[in-house]
Amino acid sequence: MDDFIYANYLVNYSKKKNLEDLFCAYQSPAQRNTYINDHSLAAFYMITRGRSIMGVMEKIIRQHLDVFHDVESVVDFGGGPGTFLFALSKFKTLNKYTNVERSGAFIDILNVLVEEFLSSSIPHTHVDSISCNYLKLKPQDIPTNDLCVFSYTFCECNNSLGSISGLVENSNMVLIIEPGTPSGFNTIIQARDKLIEKGFSTIAPCTASSGFCPLRDSESDWCHFVERLDRSRIQRRLKNGVLGYEYEKYSYLLMSKYPIPSDGKRIISRPNKTKHSVSFNICSEKNSHIVVTKRENKNQFKIVKKSIRGDLYRRGSVEVSCDESRSKP
Ligand SMILES: C[S@@+](CC[C@H](N)C(=O)[O-])C[C@H]1O[C@@H](n2cnc3c(N)ncnc32)[C@H](O)[C@@H]1O
Repeated sequence: MDDFIYANYLVNYSKKKNLEDLFCAYQSPAQRNTYINDHSLAAFYMITRGRSIMGVMEKIIRQHLDVFHDVESVVDFGGGPGTFLFALSKFKTLNKYTNVERSGAFIDILNVLVEEFLSSSIPHTHVDSISCNYLKLKPQDIPTNDLCVFSYTFCECNNSLGSISGLVENSNMVLIIEPGTPSGFNTIIQARDKLIEKGFSTIAPCTASSGFCPLRDSESDWCHFVERLDRSRIQRRLKNGVLGYEYEKYSYLLMSKYPIPSDGKRIISRPNKTKHSVSFNICSEKNSHIVVTKRENKNQFKIVKKSIRGDLYRRGSVEVSCDESRSKP
């Protein structure tokens, strides 16, 4: 996909300064103008940000395959170039995907990419776009859907959470992804409060009961996860990067109208590993600091040694996600 986008939209692009400005703006989207209504910038976004976010989405989907397996229709608010559609299509075929997007350039890029990369593999997915400011939509304007997605979009508009209760009205499930910063986490926790009021229950990442959050009032930490992603040659060039990989920090929330109990507790700190012990915090109301020693529990020690932040811990075992990139975070 990167080669196709680069060859069609960026190879002769002379306004490199625009690309650099946009990249700078993405460091703090609420304060800077990240509005994109130019095809080259939308294409640049897909390579430099969309592809990293897609990696995060794939990680979340892989961790909850049973939940995403039942999703047939998606409404993606601020879906940009269809990042979520491309991520989910690696796992399953949808009946309907609707992008509610204010930028015509993003909608055009989505249509070109769907035609080029998805039309033969998922010919039965109906891909549609509603070109508008989603903050102004009424529930009756939004199609009924299994899942609605808000990915890296609340960080772009101030006071957007006020509208969330109406926007999720026609959905059974909600997925929100934000940058893994204190501000991104703050958005997630506020959205969670509003969705609990609407009768939604948390599927992930929270595993403490009754809406409790051990990190809500922390001054030094916030709930976030880290995904290590490979960078393509073109991504390296456009990002002026030398490394063949990058770390994407993210916070997220997956909720459903139908409660789905978790069978473990989420690891919410980077595990501290020594030769003889592993210790970490879990998302739990009680006994939230876990220490596993080699001397007391050799089998469990062997398992938790491989764990990273975001894995599920069960007394007796840790569900380690099957990732090639078991890495530092
Ligand atoms: C950072 S991009 C994220 C795109 C995509 N969701 C992703 O994760 O890659 C934010 C998107 O939200 C859209 N957006 C922000 N506020 C919006 C609004 N009020 N109505 C419609 N689209 C909006 C922007 O145009 C942009 O496409």
